[in-house]
Amino acid sequence: MSVFPWLRMRRLRQSEGIRRLVRHTYLQLDDLIYPIFVSEGHNVRNPIPSMPGIYQLSLDRVLEEAEEVVALGIPAILLFGIPETKDEVGSQAYAEQGIVQKAVKEIKGKYPEIVVITDVCLCEYTSHGHCGLVEKGEIKNDETLELLALTALSHAQAGADIVAPSDMMDGRVYAIRQKLDEKGYSHIPIMAYSAKYASCFYGPFRDAAGSAPQFGDRRSYQMDPASSVEQALEEVRLDLAEGADMVIVKPALAYLDVIRRVRDTFAAPVVAYNVSGEYAMVKAAAQNGWLDEKKTVREMMLGMKRAGSDMIITYHAKDIAKWIRDGNF
Ligand code: PBG
Repeated sequence: MSVFPWLRMRRLRQSEGIRRLVRHTYLQLDDLIYPIFVSEGHNVRNPIPSMPGIYQLSLDRVLEEAEEVVALGIPAILLFGIPETKDEVGSQAYAEQGIVQKAVKEIKGKYPEIVVITDVCLCEYTSHGHCGLVEKGEIKNDETLELLALTALSHAQAGADIVAPSDMMDGRVYAIRQKLDEKGYSHIPIMAYSAKYASCFYGPFRDAAGSAPQFGDRRSYQMDPASSVEQALEEVRLDLAEGADMVIVKPALAYLDVIRRVRDTFAAPVVAYNVSGEYAMVKAAAQNGWLDEKKTVREMMLGMKRAGSDMIITYHAKDIAKWIRDGNF
């Protein structure tokens, strides 16, 4: 016998008041991390064509951006550097006067309340565009670790609050943790890009950061999208064992199952990275009048929260903060 008409799901959907009472998932300002691209030069504000609303900013303009982030109440930013020069070993990644190091110093000097997270990777700084050292066309894992550790250390010395390794070399969390501890930075948390997939959704980012690999691709270090969720769990397990404090799943939308499984398996905070290609899709459709931007963003963010993420790194963060402020998100 059917339970209908006694059981009716629609009873709890009939008015906004009731819907508010039974609502379960919320997105808060507290969850947001806003990525920023910082470049050399003065008065630079280069729009990134595939990421409308996002710019490469020079140090002076980054401070304006930081001021806006503070005013909007966004708790954290994630810094990416675009160096003036690149070389085989990515030396600008760990230079004391590197672009990220300078930016961290300036931002923390003026706005100490912003949580400054730095992306730790070599790909923006190497001439070949790979995330590790290259020898005879091969990405060398163990030889890369010391450089990643030095990069993280230089960020911490500049004043970064959290370091976020995104290279996907094996053992890098341990190398970074060891280096930080040894040099007196045992209090600096590591937010590891643990389940990071070899994704086409990074396309616009590589335009923004000028970090597309000059040969080959990243499939020998980033994860295969067709691999099992268990492999993602193993990546997370290893990073936590090596000393990670928080873990990132990246991209977000095509990997919500991974976010859920990580959430259910581990206690560490889980971060969803709503990447450049996901942002670009929404922007393009909205500009064409094909999607309502605010509603689309809201629904996507709720999906990431419902999947179990504690924080979301998103290029939409400033817009979301404004929508929340204006009470219509
Ligand atoms: C650096 C890095 C990338 C992203 C974050 N850190 C690019 C890549 O791995 O190719 C992608 C971010 C985005 O697409 O928004 N390794």
